[in-house]
Amino acid sequence: MKNINPTKTKTWKKLEKHFKKIKCENIYNLFCKDKDRFSNFSLNFDNKFFVDFSKNRINKKTIKLLLKLANEFSLKKSIKEMFCGKKINITENKSVLHTELRNKKNMFLNKKNVNSTINKTLIKIKSFSDKIINGKKKGFSNKKITDIVNIGIGGSNLGPLMVTKALHTYKNHLKIHYISNVDGNKISKILKKINFEKTIFLISSKTFSTDETIYNSNTFIKHFLKEKIKEKYIYEHFIAITSNIKKAKNFGILKKNIFEIPKEVGGRYSLWSAVGLSISLSIGFKNFENLLRGAHAMDMHFKNTPLKKNIPVILALISIWYNNFFNCETEAILSYEGSLYHIISYLQQAYMESNGKNYTRNLKKTKWQTGQIIWGGIGTNAQHAFFQLLHQGTKLIPCDFIICINEKHKFNMHHLKLLSNFLSQTKALAFGDNHVFEIKNKIKKKKFATFEGNKPSNSILIDHLNPYNLGILLSMYEHKIFTQGVIWNICSFDQWGVELGKNIAESIFSEIKKRKINNKHDSSTLGLFKLITKKKLKNN
Ligand code: F6P
Repeated sequence: MKNINPTKTKTWKKLEKHFKKIKCENIYNLFCKDKDRFSNFSLNFDNKFFVDFSKNRINKKTIKLLLKLANEFSLKKSIKEMFCGKKINITENKSVLHTELRNKKNMFLNKKNVNSTINKTLIKIKSFSDKIINGKKKGFSNKKITDIVNIGIGGSNLGPLMVTKALHTYKNHLKIHYISNVDGNKISKILKKINFEKTIFLISSKTFSTDETIYNSNTFIKHFLKEKIKEKYIYEHFIAITSNIKKAKNFGILKKNIFEIPKEVGGRYSLWSAVGLSISLSIGFKNFENLLRGAHAMDMHFKNTPLKKNIPVILALISIWYNNFFNCETEAILSYEGSLYHIISYLQQAYMESNGKNYTRNLKKTKWQTGQIIWGGIGTNAQHAFFQLLHQGTKLIPCDFIICINEKHKFNMHHLKLLSNFLSQTKALAFGDNHVFEIKNKIKKKKFATFEGNKPSNSILIDHLNPYNLGILLSMYEHKIFTQGVIWNICSFDQWGVELGKNIAESIFSEIKKRKINNKHDSSTLGLFKLITKKKLKNN
């Protein structure tokens, strides 16, 4: 990967010049100038997945220059480096192997077959989920398992939670509960719903040292001990999903109940690993496998397709265009598929933990903008909430609109309504009220009711939401994030920015427990601390 300042490259300078010319250009005019704009600025993948990026403030020259920029960064080479296991996670001195989790072929690193452990774990996931689903594997008292509790946070929660919700139409009889936050209310709620004898607990933590996860797991265990369930039975029902086998064993997890995650897979890229066990339990292994197959298909597209036809690359470059030239700070994800609700927080972690960095790969402070803020919502709900700002606000917010063409349910008219809203909003954003034929006999409008348009969006059409197509979508975003990281010259695969807060919390927790405040705190922390402990004392 190239350690260069993107803003000092030849192409960046050209892009700056080009930006000055095109920044006021209207999307409407861009369409007038190019009758084939839709076909020129859209990409089809496998007839299952379609990306229209024509409603952006770009022309052919923009794309040409952005592709040149990618070439200046030897993007193709960087992609190869990731796929062949080069240690591109430089601050942790590791390869980046999430794509291997969905690759059937064997990869050798230092003469070691990377995929042999991955495949063994996959076999274990299959066997475990099959037996739980068909009732062959029972709880300690010989009762069939009905509930699964996934205890994990960040990547050990958001991915599996999002996928199981998105694929709810594939769900079997098992009830899956997710707990991430150290929220006593959530523990009480789950305990009310489950019967220990029929429940399996998945402690999902790559490091097996994340405070929230270990704390919640201990609380469950202590609760069941209090309920007079024998310790050996409790541990029969607890599974560890981790890279830290030693810590899991020390915690008391039985060897047979440990599912391994490769160390080279980051938390936010881990739903494809044993972290996806709750997915496999919820929708069956076959569907989980199809999710992996879809992701692999997009991996191959990313790896082998020329950059100009490469969906994640094109989306990443457009995103850089807005982030670094238009100075847009945020990007919105707008899904007209309601069951993709959790994709927003999932992508927040994927984008923001990966690319929210201010150091380059050669440890110089970045003097250019990197990772954008990701936010969003669900289709028409968001229209009635924050779309006002998208249409008439002062900020330019590039959007990804996502919709499935076909639906599984029988309420077809509802789906047609969603599709109409999807088309109308992208149209209204791009063209405003001046250039749309729907507004006939335009009455002279008051200024406050006018729509300027020229607001950019990508339209992402998915044939229908099945595991395979969801795999394509998620893998596309992973590779978009990777591409941005290459060009911003940052390390997208570490997350040092989360460490400081964790460390302070550890020390504050010991002070708060003892109600013994260290006077060295700043006056704000000290003041708040005193208020909190005073109140706590009163209430207790
Ligand atoms: O603190 C951030 C983080 O490390 C994320 O990257 C990760 O997904 C999450 O915490 C959970 O980590 P673990 O799976 O090790 O418990």
